[in-house]
Amino acid sequence: MGAVSFPGVQRPSSAIGLGCMRIRELDDDAMRGWYAAARDVGIDFFDHAAVYGSRPHECETRFGDALHLTASQREEITLQTKCGTVAEGPYLDFSYDHIVSSVEGSLRALRTDYLDILLLHRPDALVEPDEVARAFDDLAAAGKVLAFGVSNHTPRQMDLLATAVDQPIVANQLQLSLGHAPAVAQGFAMNIEGSEQALVADGGGVLDYCRTKGIAVQAWAPFQAGRSRGVFLGSSDFPVLNAAIDELAHIHEVPPAAIAAAWILRHPAAAQVLLGSTNPARIAEAARCAEVTLARPEWYGLLHAAGYRARPGPPPSSARSR
Ligand SMILES: NC(=O)c1ccc[n+]([C@@H]2O[C@H](COP(=O)([O-])OP(=O)(O)OC[C@H]3O[C@@H](n4cnc5c(N)ncnc54)[C@H](OP(=O)(O)O)[C@@H]3O)[C@@H](O)[C@H]2O)c1
Repeated sequence: MGAVSFPGVQRPSSAIGLGCMRIRELDDDAMRGWYAAARDVGIDFFDHAAVYGSRPHECETRFGDALHLTASQREEITLQTKCGTVAEGPYLDFSYDHIVSSVEGSLRALRTDYLDILLLHRPDALVEPDEVARAFDDLAAAGKVLAFGVSNHTPRQMDLLATAVDQPIVANQLQLSLGHAPAVAQGFAMNIEGSEQALVADGGGVLDYCRTKGIAVQAWAPFQAGRSRGVFLGSSDFPVLNAAIDELAHIHEVPPAAIAAAWILRHPAAAQVLLGSTNPARIAEAARCAEVTLARPEWYGLLHAAGYRARPGPPPSSARSR
């Protein structure tokens, strides 16, 4: 499996990460099986957020309590969490006090002395970059956080943070999949007349910006179509896309989920894909994306089957019927 090195983090992390947003209802045995399945296929990166669960730090607490990692087991993995989203509101909060107290809560919940990476979860319109800088510096100086990043941030929002924040921004976590690829598709929209994808905000060239700055893109929700249309894999709502995925799965002799994940990782900006499954068999299937490097015709073929256009001309026959 490929690996990604984050400045400040002591060891490289697997290019396939496991998201912990949906683990709330796993009992201890199921949690240990889920974790073991990930470790068995080489996954050593776990993505949390203070807000995951029905109360603050709930999923982090379930992870910490059920797994009870020894110090050496803890050293073998990369633990990332996010702060700044307050569910009771809801609102965003990048104030010094919120960032620091959220990290303290995450450390307690995860039963660890340090976070490998802390991300700002969603942009806070009221952000004061000086406050973020002070929080990051204090957390780094205390050894509580090794590296920092953002999630769902545009290039301009990252530039704004950079006016005060000296800690390197090592990652930007974005929604990116064959079912939701505006960040990829808008890059083709130049001179494509009447193309809906030209109108979709992609964050203003966020993928190219991240490549330019050496910021690792982590793709969240790799198998979801948009925010609310559910899983596209195997769904009768996406016949063209699934036919294209299945054909490549057959050719490469891997499960369809592996092709959908390989499509993400084939993009040069995408350093990691974050799987959200709680099912050990599905995790193992998707992890087989590491066996596949899609050729250009295959990668673009999937893009077209997903309904996106890469150049002017008639829309692909599959457009809007994915
Ligand atoms: N930064 C952000 O704003 C943000 C937002 C959302 C998520 N995230 C992160 O990204 C991670 C992944 O997101 P996600 O959970 O939405 O990812 P996902 O892997 O696209 O979706 C996982 C969900 O889809 C189901 N699923 C997966 N494969 C399937 C298949 N082949 N057929 C049917 N159902 C399937 C899973 O069910 P089973 O569990 O039964 O397999 C699970 O409910 C999260 O855990 C979180 O860490 C970040």
